[in-house]
Amino acid sequence: MGYILAIDQGTTSSRAVVFDEDMTVVTIAQEEFPQHFPKPGWVEHRPDDLWTTTLTTCREALKRAGISASDINAIGITNQRETTLIWDRTTGEPIHNAIVWQDRRTADLCHKLKSDGHEDLVRSRTGLLLDPYFSATKVKWLLDNVPDARARAQAGELLFGTVDSYLIWKLTGGARHVTDATNAARTMLYDIHARDWSADICAVLDIPQNMLPEVLDCAADFGETQSDLLGARVPIRGVAGDQQAATIGQACFETGMLKATYGTGCFALLNTGDTPVASEHGLLTTIAYQLDGKVTYALEGSIFVAGAAVQWLRDGLKIIPDAAATQEMAEQSDADQPIILVPAFTGLGAPYWEPEALGAIYGLTRNSGPEDFARAALESVGYQTRDLLEAMYKDMGEHPEKAMLRVDGGLSASQWAMQFVSDITDAPIDRPKSLETTALGAAWLAGSAVGMYPDQTGAAAAWRRDRQFSPSMTPQTRDRKYAAWKAAIAATLTHAK
Ligand code: G3P
Repeated sequence: MGYILAIDQGTTSSRAVVFDEDMTVVTIAQEEFPQHFPKPGWVEHRPDDLWTTTLTTCREALKRAGISASDINAIGITNQRETTLIWDRTTGEPIHNAIVWQDRRTADLCHKLKSDGHEDLVRSRTGLLLDPYFSATKVKWLLDNVPDARARAQAGELLFGTVDSYLIWKLTGGARHVTDATNAARTMLYDIHARDWSADICAVLDIPQNMLPEVLDCAADFGETQSDLLGARVPIRGVAGDQQAATIGQACFETGMLKATYGTGCFALLNTGDTPVASEHGLLTTIAYQLDGKVTYALEGSIFVAGAAVQWLRDGLKIIPDAAATQEMAEQSDADQPIILVPAFTGLGAPYWEPEALGAIYGLTRNSGPEDFARAALESVGYQTRDLLEAMYKDMGEHPEKAMLRVDGGLSASQWAMQFVSDITDAPIDRPKSLETTALGAAWLAGSAVGMYPDQTGAAAAWRRDRQFSPSMTPQTRDRKYAAWKAAIAATLTHAK
């Protein structure tokens, strides 16, 4: 008996979720924190915001559940990936704000590394592409731009970590500097085949290896929380990047299983088992999870803006009252309006990888109104999903029917958006009963590590479908609409050159 506490430190908010012994959600506490945009294309988080919102949501979740820390058998942590922090080994003081995964400040550096011929090294070792998205060039930027940083790093005074590492370091009072294989795989410094930090890439970027964390399995001993933080010492036994945690929470444990999470961005992961598939079509090879020393790989399609397009309508343009309103507005929009929104607000990710791309709207007429913008935002999510699935099918050489797509994340609550994803991809979509899949994945890692939760087979059996969406668009409409999207993408890419 007892509970599991899952920490989900995301891009816009921190969440703490208490699960019971049946892997059912007991309570959720959530807190948003400010985003900082010091220059166009730059995105930062204050480390203290990440830490304090994590701590306060954990305390709040325990309070609401009416339990104390001693009732928690283990903590699982999942987090926004790639976001980069460097802090002082002795004082814990960060040397700079966290540089967020969406930040494009190292686009020029990535271009230079490409033209210097380093892309093959990066691809072959890390499975990633040379893009500002990943941590490595952000670490280099910090070492190059924060006064004394490189000298201090070389002297062993500084530590680098993704958000999981930083939180564990704080939770354990500086006792542990660790990460898990899935987060390490997103740094562009980790060799996913040799399963070690790449000395060659570190040398190219002039990053001292002594600042990198120890890499563990996803279910492992990550240390214990300091007793004064939550009221008792609690072991941290599970860690995974949020998209990998969602893959686990969706029980995509078999080769060929596929999930897409619609949050700030959209991230589709296809389980490729013990084979790391090198993409020829703009996808990433990454680690889905590492358990008992065994790596399961995934092909990943990363879209930077999905739910964030809806946020932009609400907070930027202020033409919708809230995210939920897009459903009704999309229903009311004129289906003949040929509006296409390319939401390249932070460049384009998979499969185009153009960090300099800017957002664009095509097909405006005098009749275009807020309803049509709402529909265009939701449709952009579907078009981008189709881009990813097409790339996956090409890389795997398999017929689309093989992949049943499981969806989750905030935007998956929109019936309209999910129906459009099904229509435009011509694929059936499965939405689970529990949309808390990311937290569930982290909870399952921790709970299985302490013998409280079932194994993979048991977790897969516990997965329940809420609703299936089946394609209902005519092939002619589907082809016409997707062709318009591809034309809009081509124009956007041309403009970026
Ligand atoms: O790779 C970035 C991803 O991990 C961010 O996820 O849910 O915080 O937007 P989310």
